[in-house]
Amino acid sequence: MKAVVYEGARKVTVKEVPDARVEEPTDAVIRLTTTNICGSDLHMYEGRTSVEEGKVLGHENMGVVVATGDAVSEFKEGDRVSVPFNIACGFCKNCLTGWTSFCTRTNPTPGFDGAAYGYANMGPYDGGQAEYLRVPHADFNLLPLPQGTEHENDFTMLSDIFPTGWHGVVLSGLQPGDSVAVYGGGPVGLMAAHAAMLQGASKVFVVDRQADRLQLAKSIDAIAIDYGAGDPVEQILDATGGVGTDRGVEAVGFQAHDHSGDEHPEMVLDNLVKTVRTTGGIGVVGVYVPQDPGQDDPESAGRIGWDYGTFFTKGQSMGTGQAPVKRYNRQLRDLIIAGSDKPGFIVSHELGLDEAPGAYESFDQRRDGWTKVLLHP
Ligand SMILES: NC(=O)c1ccc[n+]([C@@H]2O[C@H](COP(=O)([O-])OP(=O)(O)OC[C@H]3O[C@@H](n4cnc5c(N)ncnc54)[C@H](O)[C@@H]3O)[C@@H](O)[C@H]2O)c1
Ligand SMILES: [Zn+2]
Ligand SMILES: [Zn+2]
Repeated sequence: MKAVVYEGARKVTVKEVPDARVEEPTDAVIRLTTTNICGSDLHMYEGRTSVEEGKVLGHENMGVVVATGDAVSEFKEGDRVSVPFNIACGFCKNCLTGWTSFCTRTNPTPGFDGAAYGYANMGPYDGGQAEYLRVPHADFNLLPLPQGTEHENDFTMLSDIFPTGWHGVVLSGLQPGDSVAVYGGGPVGLMAAHAAMLQGASKVFVVDRQADRLQLAKSIDAIAIDYGAGDPVEQILDATGGVGTDRGVEAVGFQAHDHSGDEHPEMVLDNLVKTVRTTGGIGVVGVYVPQDPGQDDPESAGRIGWDYGTFFTKGQSMGTGQAPVKRYNRQLRDLIIAGSDKPGFIVSHELGLDEAPGAYESFDQRRDGWTKVLLHP
């Protein structure tokens, strides 16, 4: 089958790899209809993770079941499904308490709980930017979708970023009527802003410096804050009578940069501590890593100095980590089916698998208008 393969920093190629197949009785294999490129893929693309060369990328997958193992009872050939990016067993302590993103059984990498498709440190699983994908523990992990092709660009947000944005807002502790500042206007930040509105936020700020992304934020009635035009903290404090917002969401990650492009991994955490009021909450879904191969001292680069003292003094709380997609995807699917929700509003490009290398390059450069790329193998 054809697949998008990581071959080193800033190099992905489309090539023939062995077909995905049923390896365990609990597996299913799906034929991909849509698989997205994610901001998380860019950390790998830029050589800033320990992902091994030869890995098939892609963790935002949906398609149609083409084969099932003998122990799979809930799905059959022809079923249309969304695949959460988390690979979870369904039986461990974390799975049983709803933390499928920290499954203790599916990731053999020492020091890491939680597995995913085609991702650094998240187990030996190939990704779905390919013609076919092997799905372990299929009965537990797959989400059924209505047959046909309706809502494809909305349903494809269910494998990661719509639940992830939703989770960032949940981690922030948002209550109806609260205001919230979302740092990062990429796909995850836009989904967080959208989710915050669905969860009853009274005012939603989105901070970025990319004009096209800020425009999308405005299109859903968020207040766009351009950090290239001035300190975002001051802009938000001015707009909230000096008090700050009730909640904050981090949707940038460790490659946060200033308006000149220089990276400062602590920058957004510090800005959130200043932006959010005393006793407010912060949800961090932007990715941080324990080691950063892009730094001179990769061993210590995960130790980020940020303003913990002010965070403590303000009595704030913080939740972090990969999102447990399965906790939200069923309900969000039903909002889409009911017609009341269209998370696909962020889609900018729909391409074939062969166009993946160019798409990675353009999305990585945040070229104007490259917000969210879908590949249709
Ligand atoms: N926790 C999870 O489960 C999960 C799931 C998916 C993605 N992620 C992570 O979420 C983050 C965002 O993903 P994405 O797909 O939206 O990526 P993205 O890279 O397209 O978006 C990040 C945005 O942040 C902006 N930005 C950079 N520095 C900033 C700063 N100092 N202040 C404000 N904005 C700044 C960039 O201009 C960009 O638009 C990534 O770190 C990704 O790995 C986490
Ligand atoms: Zn993703
Ligand atoms: Zn588990």
